[in-house]
Amino acid sequence: MLGAPAVRREAVEKAAGAARYAAEHTPSGCVYGWPVPAAVPRGRVTALGTAEVLEMPGVLAVLTHENAPRLGQPDDPTLRLLQDDRVPHRGWYIALVVADTLENARAGAAALRVGYEAEEHDVRLTGDRPDIYTPEEANGGHPAVRERGDFEGAYAAADVRVDASYRLTALHNHPMEPHAATAQWGDGRLTVWDSSQGSGPVRDTLAQLFGLDRKQITAVSEHVGGGFGSKGTPRPPVVLAAMAARHTGRPVKVSLPRRQMPAVVGHRAPTLHHVRLGAGADGRITALAHDVVTQTSRVKEFVEQAAVPARVMYVSPNSRTVHRVVALDVPTPSWMRAPGEAPGMYALESAMDELAVATGLDPVELRLRNEPATEPDSGLPFSSRNLAACLRRGAEVFGWEERDPRPGVTREGGLLLGTGVAASTYPVLIAPSRATAHLGADGVHRIRVNATDIGTGARTVLAQIAAEALDTPLETVTVEIGSSDLPAAPLAGGSCGTASWGWAVHKACTLLAKRLADHRGPLPAEGLTASADTKEETGREPAHARHAFGAVFCEAQVDTVTGEVAVRRMLGVFAAGRILNARTARSQFIGGMTMGIGMALMEGSTMDERFGDYAECDLASYHVPVCADVRSVEAQWIEEDDPHLNPMGSKGIGEIGIVGTAAAVANAVHHATGVRFRELPLTPDKLV
Ligand code: MOS
Repeated sequence: MLGAPAVRREAVEKAAGAARYAAEHTPSGCVYGWPVPAAVPRGRVTALGTAEVLEMPGVLAVLTHENAPRLGQPDDPTLRLLQDDRVPHRGWYIALVVADTLENARAGAAALRVGYEAEEHDVRLTGDRPDIYTPEEANGGHPAVRERGDFEGAYAAADVRVDASYRLTALHNHPMEPHAATAQWGDGRLTVWDSSQGSGPVRDTLAQLFGLDRKQITAVSEHVGGGFGSKGTPRPPVVLAAMAARHTGRPVKVSLPRRQMPAVVGHRAPTLHHVRLGAGADGRITALAHDVVTQTSRVKEFVEQAAVPARVMYVSPNSRTVHRVVALDVPTPSWMRAPGEAPGMYALESAMDELAVATGLDPVELRLRNEPATEPDSGLPFSSRNLAACLRRGAEVFGWEERDPRPGVTREGGLLLGTGVAASTYPVLIAPSRATAHLGADGVHRIRVNATDIGTGARTVLAQIAAEALDTPLETVTVEIGSSDLPAAPLAGGSCGTASWGWAVHKACTLLAKRLADHRGPLPAEGLTASADTKEETGREPAHARHAFGAVFCEAQVDTVTGEVAVRRMLGVFAAGRILNARTARSQFIGGMTMGIGMALMEGSTMDERFGDYAECDLASYHVPVCADVRSVEAQWIEEDDPHLNPMGSKGIGEIGIVGTAAAVANAVHHATGVRFRELPLTPDKLV
């Protein structure tokens, strides 16, 4: 049952258009809000032509810092909307026009005249800025700096050295469903339908902002069309909708036009990497340094933890990993699929490929030689680590043996062909969760947990976990998720959802099964219920380093005339504990790898320094892979039996697919061309 390729429970509902997303809830009397973004990169709002807009057809209100409801102090300062006249970056919201129809709201927003006092802005990220500083910690609570041994000494004494700098542009989350929310006040209660990765944090944040008790708020995120981290924290639509609903006394819907998203829903900050590897002639790494410089906004500090995977991956008796950051007049960066690991492993795994060339070793063999016995940073034993098995299986299935190690020699007409490999890693994160399991007199097992399905199939895998724990057919289990009124559970983020929610579901079901076994006589009319909370289990300090691993193999072709790179085939082999649903897991792995192809070849945001913002703001200019770019992508996995994780034995799978992919593509491009490009994306202009 667990592991079976069960079909998504909401599949038909979604295909038939019956599944309702946040913007598809239209309470009676609902009106529409259209946000107005700041049109200067830094400064103050000095004049607002509100009166003219209020005369326009259908316009009910214009919310600005002059009249918007006062908000409490949120933990996340990017949500302190319409509270003062400051413009910290271009695209920051300065008003919301509310009207009877979407069209009237949009027309009102377009007509709003705004006066600004513009100030000098500064959006230029360079590695030598004097205002670069070392933060307390990087995202995820990781220490900004870690040192072991004597890096400089060991590096100087090494037989072989690689010293390489890589540059990654900013990347933007573009989930299929733009951020949207509908808000309704009534009887002192606030109900919101929000496109979010976790309605619990949405409810808690709204309570903070509006001075309410959490019990006065219901946040619903029933179906969500992707998030990739950008919906991991509450975003402006839900705050603006709630403010406007309070101001107008009507239910209000705010759905972001895609072009506004890049400025207000987070993005992956650009990163500058300096990697130095020192090794013996045998390829064993003796010295490893990974320095990362990145940017944050002036509103909030967010530091992409890109040097963190270098603390996990390889033998490195002498190592130094450092994050530094500078605050610029840019939108606030945030989570994007595998924050830290995705950019960090592009740099580290590219450098490993350079070390393979420098030592004359096969890149698979080089990695096998640098397998650590314990986690390098902590010295803890791994709960399980099957990177070697992934590399070996991948090499076999991909046909790595047949590879001619010489770069730039394989041609097919006007194409250069090459193959590349890179490793992947992602930590096992588990957060406390609650769940209830109920068996009714009708024989139905009802599971309730505030999980969120962002397109991954959460309902389905939770039903599988419940059915297995209850030893009952899958069809007898129903799963209710996606509302803050349900038992509290963490967001769908950090690849932690299934492990966290599933543990609570498993515990509740195990309790229910025991209660049933102990029960004598017919079921009471109200059925039997069991509740579980995994706070204690998940709060224990793990005795092991827990990470998923993987290996990605890629064959790429480079057109010698146009400079266009295409991925001919790609294979990922992952070791991520027990795989709980073969169908949805495969979909997550290949989805992650597809996003990695985008990162390698086409995705990238260009900072226009004079304009003070990124140039690409829609899918016409921010290119993501389409089917023609994804010719053959295959995912396999090693079945791991890891008793140190959770009762299901699962690691997270949502993010690891993207992690090694960009480096695998870039390494294949090096093998094809003999030229090392150290900047992504590998667009034709860079190659010709
Ligand atoms: Mo993921 S970037 O933790 O939603």
